[in-house]
Amino acid sequence: MLGERSADWWRSAVFYQIYPRSFADGNGDGIGDLPGITARLDYLNDLQIDAVWLSPFFPSPQVDFGYDISDYTAVDPVYGTLADFDRLLDAAHRRGVRVILDLVLNHSSTKHPWFLEAQGDRRSSRRSWYVWADPAPGGGPPNNWLSSFPAVGSAWTLDERSGQYFLTTFTPAQADLDWHNPDVRQAMHDVMRFWLSRGVDGFRLDVPHRLAKDPMLRDNPPSLAAARRFMDHATDRQRHIDLPEVHEILRGIRAVADEFEDRVLLGEVTITEPRRLARYFGESDDELQMVFDVLFWDSPWSAPAFREAIAALDRVVPPWSLPCRAMSTHDHRRAASRYGLLAGDGRRARLAAMMQMTLRSVPCVYYGEEIGMTDVPVAAERIRDVDQRDANRTPMQWGPGTLGAFDPTKSWLPMPDEPDRVSVLRQTADASSLLAFYRRLLAYRRQSRPLRDGSFEWLSPASDLLAYCRAAETSRVVVLLNFAPHEARTILPPGAAVAVADLSTDPRRRAGTAVAAGDPLFAEEGLILRLA
Ligand code: NOJ
Ligand code: CA
Repeated sequence: MLGERSADWWRSAVFYQIYPRSFADGNGDGIGDLPGITARLDYLNDLQIDAVWLSPFFPSPQVDFGYDISDYTAVDPVYGTLADFDRLLDAAHRRGVRVILDLVLNHSSTKHPWFLEAQGDRRSSRRSWYVWADPAPGGGPPNNWLSSFPAVGSAWTLDERSGQYFLTTFTPAQADLDWHNPDVRQAMHDVMRFWLSRGVDGFRLDVPHRLAKDPMLRDNPPSLAAARRFMDHATDRQRHIDLPEVHEILRGIRAVADEFEDRVLLGEVTITEPRRLARYFGESDDELQMVFDVLFWDSPWSAPAFREAIAALDRVVPPWSLPCRAMSTHDHRRAASRYGLLAGDGRRARLAAMMQMTLRSVPCVYYGEEIGMTDVPVAAERIRDVDQRDANRTPMQWGPGTLGAFDPTKSWLPMPDEPDRVSVLRQTADASSLLAFYRRLLAYRRQSRPLRDGSFEWLSPASDLLAYCRAAETSRVVVLLNFAPHEARTILPPGAAVAVADLSTDPRRRAGTAVAAGDPLFAEEGLILRLA
C-alpha cells in the first residue's frame, strides 16, 4: 500500500521511466502494453522503485509515438483499455508504487477533433484554440521559428484550404495549442482532473516552457556562439524569447494539481541557463516541484564537468523544489552507449548509478538502464522516428520466455542479436550483475536518511574525484566517486579521521571495513562511507 500520505513523498522517491511501447508485451504482438506493465510491477517493486513515469499511451496516430495525442482521456487500443489502466494504477498503489503520466499540453495531434474543427472552418469557435497566422508579406512562413526537429525545418505548416499557417513546433502533425485562450486552459485543466480523480500521482509535463507564444510573433534571435553553454537544449535550435505569461499558465496548472492531495509536477524544461530554468520552480511553491536537470544529462563523462553541472543548478534551486536527474530518456542516447559505461567489468555503470542515487535530487532511471541496455543499431529501413531516436527506444530485454518478454521476430523495433547477453533473466541469477548492484544501491538509499533527504556539501574540488557529504540529524555519509583510471586518496570532512565502508562499486572492497583519510580508492571506484 502507499505509505503515509505525504505531500513530500516525491522528494525522497526514485522514479523510473517506462516507455509503454517498449517495456513489456502482454499479448505478444510485438508492442508493449499496459497489461504488460502491470505484470512487471513486482520487478519494479523488488528494485525498490517508488514511482513510475509513463510516457504517453493515449490514442495517437503515432507520428511522434504518442506525443501527438488525438484523445487526452482514453487509452490507445494498441496499449489496452481504460480498465487496464485502472488495474495498473491499483496494482501499483497496492505495492506502494506511485504513477505519474505524461501531459503533452503544448500541442495536440492534427487528428484531434479540436484541430479538425478548427481547420475545417475559419469562423469556428475552435479556430482560436490553435495558433494561426497569415503568410509573411512576400509569402512563406510568418516568421523564422524553427521546428525542434532539424529534419522538419520551419515551425509553420501551411493549411492549403484557408491559406493560413498554423504553428507546429515539432512535426506538422502536432499543432500548437493557444494557451492564451482561456477555453484551452479550461479544457486541459479538465484533462488533468480526469486523470487525477482516477488516482494518478502527478504528471511529467512535456515542454512546459513553450506553452506561451509571443503574441507579436517576433522572430527568434539567433543564438550567440559565445553563449553556447547556456543555449537552449540542442533540440531547441534557436533562442526563445522568455515570456512571463508562461508562469501564470503554470500556476494555473499547479492549482489544479493542488485540488488533489499529494500530487507532483515534473517539468521537461529544456533551458540550460540555470537561472532561467529555476524560474519554473515559481516564486513560492506554486509552479513545478521538479524540473529535469538538463545540464546533468548533457554532461560529458568527467568529474569536473559533472561537478560544474550539478553545482550550477543546485545553487539556484529554491527549498521547496528539487531537480530530477536522469542519465537517459526516450530522447537521449542511452548513458551506457554515450559514456561507454560497460567497458571492462562495467565498473563505470556502477559509478554512474552511485552518483545518480546519492546526489541531492530525485533520480529517474530509464527502463533497461539498470541492466546496462545500450543503444541498439537500427537499420535505415527500420527507422521509425522523425528524429531518429529509435536506437534508445528498443524493447526491454527481459530474456526469452519470461513475463512480458518481446518476441524478437515480432518486436516493433529490433532487439540485439543475442537478446540474452544483457537481460533481466541473466542478471537476476547473477549476484555480481549490474542489476544486483542497482538493487543493493536502491535498498541502501531507501534506508539512508542522509541520502533520502539530507543536506549536501562538497568536500573538495579535487579534479577527478567527486566527494560530498550528506547529513540528516546525527547521521552522515560521505560519497567518493573516483572518475580517474588510477587510484585516488580518500578524503573525509574536517574532524573525521575514520569511516566505515557501507557500499562500494568495487567488489574488492568489503562492506564494514574501516577507511581512513588518505587511504587509497581503487581506480574508478565509487564508495559510500558512514561516519561514526
Ligand atoms: C519532448 C518529448 O520528450 C519528445 O519525445 C517529443 O518528441 C517532444 N517533446 C514533442 O512532444
Ligand atoms: Ca502488446
